[in-house]
Amino acid sequence: MSPAQFLADDAQTLLFAQRAAAALPTDGEPLVIYLQGDLGTGKTSIARGMLHAMGHSGSVRSPTYGLVAEYSTPAGLVIHLDLYRLRDESELAPLGLADYLPGSRLWLIEWPEQALQGLPAPDVRLQLAVREAGRVVSLQSASPRGADWVAIMRTETAL
Ligand SMILES: Nc1ncnc2c1ncn2[C@@H]1O[C@H](COP(=O)(O)OP(=O)(O)OP(=O)(O)O)[C@@H](O)[C@H]1O
Ligand SMILES: [Mg+2]
Repeated sequence: MSPAQFLADDAQTLLFAQRAAAALPTDGEPLVIYLQGDLGTGKTSIARGMLHAMGHSGSVRSPTYGLVAEYSTPAGLVIHLDLYRLRDESELAPLGLADYLPGSRLWLIEWPEQALQGLPAPDVRLQLAVREAGRVVSLQSASPRGADWVAIMRTETAL
C-alpha cells in the first residue's frame, strides 16, 4: 500500500507541493511525475505549487489547448502536460516530447492514462482523491530515483 496523506485545504496542498519541489533530485536528470485522480482533485494545484516553489512567478493553467506547456524556472525546466482532451495517441507525436527531455528537471503529466504510449516512463505516480472537504494524496514510486524522492517526501511530510 502506498503511503497517504490528508490535505485538508488549499494551503495544505500548496505546502505539500512546496515540499515536493524541494525534494527534487539534483542529479541533472528529469523526474517524471504522473498526476492521477478524478476531475478537480487538485492535479493542477500541485503543478502550480511546485512551479511557484521553483521560482516561476507567472500563472499556471492547464495547458488544455496545446496539451504541453514549458516553464523555464530558476530551478530548471519544467514540462507540464494535460492530456484530458487527447483523443488519439497520434496527437502526441507532433509535440516532439522526446526533444524536451534532455535538460529538463521535472515532468508533470495530468491524465497520463489517456496516452498509454508515447510518454516518458514515470518515476512516481501521485494519486489524488477527494475525502470530505479535502483531498488525500498518495505516492507510488515507479523507478529507483522515484523511490528516493518518495522516501524524502515520507520523512519530510506525514506520508
Ligand atoms: N486539499 C484541498 N482541499 C480542498 N480543495 C482543494 C485542495 N487542493 C486543491 N483543491 C481545490 O480543488 C479544485 C480543483 O483543483 P485543480 O484544478 O488543481 O484539479 P485538477 O485535478 O487539476 O482538475 P482537472 O482534472 O480538471 O484538471 C480547486 O478549486 C482547488 O482549489
Ligand atoms: Mg488540471
